[in-house]
Amino acid sequence: MFNTKYLRLGSQLIKGLTRGETSTPGVAYTQFFRNRPLQHLKHKLFSSTVTDKAQERGDEDEKRISVTFVDKDGEEKDIKVPIGMSMLEAAHENDIELEGACEGSLACSTCHVIVMDIDYYNKLEDPTDEENDMLDLAFGLTETSRLGCQVIAKPELDGMRLALPAATRNFAVDGYKPKPH
Ligand code: FES
Repeated sequence: MFNTKYLRLGSQLIKGLTRGETSTPGVAYTQFFRNRPLQHLKHKLFSSTVTDKAQERGDEDEKRISVTFVDKDGEEKDIKVPIGMSMLEAAHENDIELEGACEGSLACSTCHVIVMDIDYYNKLEDPTDEENDMLDLAFGLTETSRLGCQVIAKPELDGMRLALPAATRNFAVDGYKPKPH
């Protein structure tokens, strides 16, 4: 709508110039801006930029979920995790002490986390056999234990709380050799 008006103004200016009406540009300008104070246009342009930015921020927030990590001392840290990111990556990005010795290749259990609310646990994809094998070797295994590298952020997990176990078993240090699949 705004662009159409500018196009119309441009075409009026060109018509006036080709007809040799030197006063036409001024007239067209005046007509175009009659009832449209510059202040109004400025506000419209400015506020749409602000609105766009707010919208972008809103979109960004929609693509992230809130997750709380609770460490072994009970200290809580709330973070925002982008949809599609694993809890291991999110922990590392936020300086949370979750080891992840094999960097997500299901060859350790040092990324062991405990989902604190069963409702959230039930929203997770079922663990694969490989994850279950590694979980069996995790220190302090619970009914709602998962490997952080296998828990991927999705909208339904917004508000999830994850406890970090008091200890992890580092196979590399303990001499464990993962079995080939
Ligand atoms: Fe090793 Fe998750 S980082 S299994």
